[in-house]
Parts: sequence; structure tokens; C-alpha cells
Amino acid sequence: MPISRAIAQQLENASWIRRMFEEGVRLKRERGAEAVFDFSLGNPDVEPPTAVIETLRRVVAGNRPGSHGYMPNPGYPEVRATIARKLARETGLDFVADDIFMTVGAAGACNVILKSLLDPGDEVIVLAPFFPEYQFYIGNHSGKMVLVDTDDEFLPDAEKIAAAITPRTRALILNAPNNPTGRIYPKRVLDEIGQMLSRVDHPVVVISDEPYKAFVYDGQHQPEVAASIANTAICNSWSKSLGLPGERIGYLALSPRLDGLAALRGACAFANRTLGYINAPAIWQRVINETADETINPAPYERKRNVLCDALKKIGYEVRPPEGSFYIFLKTPIADDVAFTRILAEQGVLAVPGVGFGRAGYIRLSLTIPLEQIQNSIGGFERAFLACNSRQC
Ligand SMILES: Cc1ncc(COP(=O)(O)O)c(C=O)c1O
Repeated sequence: MPISRAIAQQLENASWIRRMFEEGVRLKRERGAEAVFDFSLGNPDVEPPTAVIETLRRVVAGNRPGSHGYMPNPGYPEVRATIARKLARETGLDFVADDIFMTVGAAGACNVILKSLLDPGDEVIVLAPFFPEYQFYIGNHSGKMVLVDTDDEFLPDAEKIAAAITPRTRALILNAPNNPTGRIYPKRVLDEIGQMLSRVDHPVVVISDEPYKAFVYDGQHQPEVAASIANTAICNSWSKSLGLPGERIGYLALSPRLDGLAALRGACAFANRTLGYINAPAIWQRVINETADETINPAPYERKRNVLCDALKKIGYEVRPPEGSFYIFLKTPIADDVAFTRILAEQGVLAVPGVGFGRAGYIRLSLTIPLEQIQNSIGGFERAFLACNSRQC
């Protein structure tokens, strides 16, 4: 049975992480699992807080009648009210329960807002380097991704974004702390984007994808996008902040300052249903209602960041330590990041080439592997670097 040409092409474009996965399987078979260091996947390795697991036990044991039934598509009203109060505290904006839509992870939230905004051919601006799934989320709703580069320090430039806006531009995706660069976006940059968008002659919605908000280091924090930019829709989840990516629980929040808020609320409720999600998982909504303020402790990731960045610097790599998220976007010692990824793989170190994120000359390293494995991988990073410097590659 032939598959859709569009999916066949997307599979080809999406193959970097899959290729690294296959490479990992081959290397582990050849050398043994302990000699392979997989920095390619972003699967949190910290268990959820005890309070979350205890609440889950209590919610399941409670077995309230009707608690496994359908509910309004945007989710349980009391859970939405809890999230609205939390966002109002954090942003200083008057979020109410009707602005909140419980979703199947941040990915579900992104798909719901894109479905609600896009007609075929409408454009969505994405800042490179970018989370590669965005191209498929936009494609799911027949939109067109328009890439705009960030600067050498991975910060957005409002004027460059302005130059990419056309009458078909419906949205701009911001993701901070960023996957893959680890950048936090300062308030100054967000204010400049907000002011620039307020001068555009039609509404452009900023989709602020924030699943790494809890992962910030050196005492920094990510300024609130919705506080700087009026037309903001927030996508978030507890996949990373509570270590629950397999449970698929997140939310979409429409800023009370959004143009056309009432129509968008109706569209998002409808899209959550017709995309086939129907509603977010019922049990996890109830758990989140009681644990919305919990987060895992990001300190182990900060420690791993420090150990790896220090070691890489000592070897001679040009390193920009991430301010947040749990990725390092590392400049490769040779311009060809795909070739360097192969050289690293020969040393048992698996990374993803930057070209898959829209910026060649870099690789992404995920800090979700255990500290001990990071320490054991340093020799491989060093041998790969020396091989390049002695022009053996
Ligand atoms: C930037 C970004 N957005 C969205 C997602 C999807 O998150 P979720 O698992 O909550 O759907 C991820 C997951 O890795 C991500 O890195």
C-alpha cells in the first residue's frame, strides 16, 4: 500500500534523530552498551517528584464515579481555573479558566493553536535553529514554515522578523528557554518583538512554546513572553518540568490581551476535539490540579552542564553553556557537522547534527544521559577533536 507522498518526504526530512538511533543500536551491538554514549535523545532522566506520584495514587484510589468519562473538550473547569490562577500570578495578566485548554502535551497545544489559526498557504515564522517538529506541526495544517535566522548568539532580531512578515503571516513561534540552543530570551528582546508586531497592519499571534521554563541555571529566569507581547498563545506541558513526557499532559493558554479572543476560544475547543485528542488525559488533569506548582529539581542538569562544558572547553571546543533547557548546542571543530557527527560516533558518542535544526556547523548534545556516562564520554570528545585538528578528518 503506497503511503502519502507528503509523509514519505517528511520521513526523509525527519531522519536525523532516527539515523542516530539506528547508529546507536549498531554501535551497542558491536561494542557493548557501556561503550556507547547517547546524547541524541531529550528524554528526561529525573523521576517525577514524590508528591506527584502520591497524588496519582490517591486520585486513582479515589475512583470517583464518572471520573473516567468524557468532559468538556477544553478540560475540567476546576483544573483550568487552577492553571489560570497560576498564570495570572506569573504574568500579571487576568487569565481566567476560559482562556485555558488542557492538551495532549505541548505538542498537542501547538497543533491546536496552529489548526485554529491557519488556512492553507498561511505562513508561520520560525526562528533558526529550531525544534524540528515545528515544520511538521505547521505542515499538519497546510501552513508554510518561514525560517528567520537568529544572530551568532542565537538571539532573535525584531527587524529581521519584520522583514519576513507578509500579508499571509499568521504566527511567529518563540521557544525559550530554547531547544536546541539553551538560550533564554531577555525582556529587552521580547519587548522589541512586541513593539514591532504592534505596528504590523494585521494580527500576528506569537505562539510561545515554553516546556523548558523550569530549566534555568545560574539563578536566571525566563521573562514572561505574554507580559511583553499582547497577541500571545502559550503552549506548555509537564513533560519536562515534572518528568512526565509519556503521560501527555499540557495546556494551551490564550492571553486575555489576544485580538479576537472569543472566536479563538471557540476554535481551540473545536480543534482539540476534531484533531482526535477529544480532551487531555482525565486522571492527569486531576493530578495536575493538585501539583501544578511542583517542578523537578533542575540542579542535576546544571551539574551535568557544568561538567560537560568545562571538559569540552579544556579540550579546545568553542562552548556557549546553555542558560536553560537541557541541551548544549556545540560548535563543531570542522564546518561539516554531519562529518563531525560521524567522527564522534566512531568514538561511541552520539549527537545530532545542527543541520537538522536549521544551523550547520553545530551539534546538539542532550544532558539527559547520566553524569557517570558524561564523564566516561570525555575521552571520545577529545579523540574526535584531536583527529580533526591533526587533519585526519
Ligand atoms: C521545544 C519543544 N516543544 C514541544 C515539545 C513537545 O513537548 P510535549 O512532550 O509536552 O508534547 C518538545 C519536546 O521535546 C520540545 O523540545
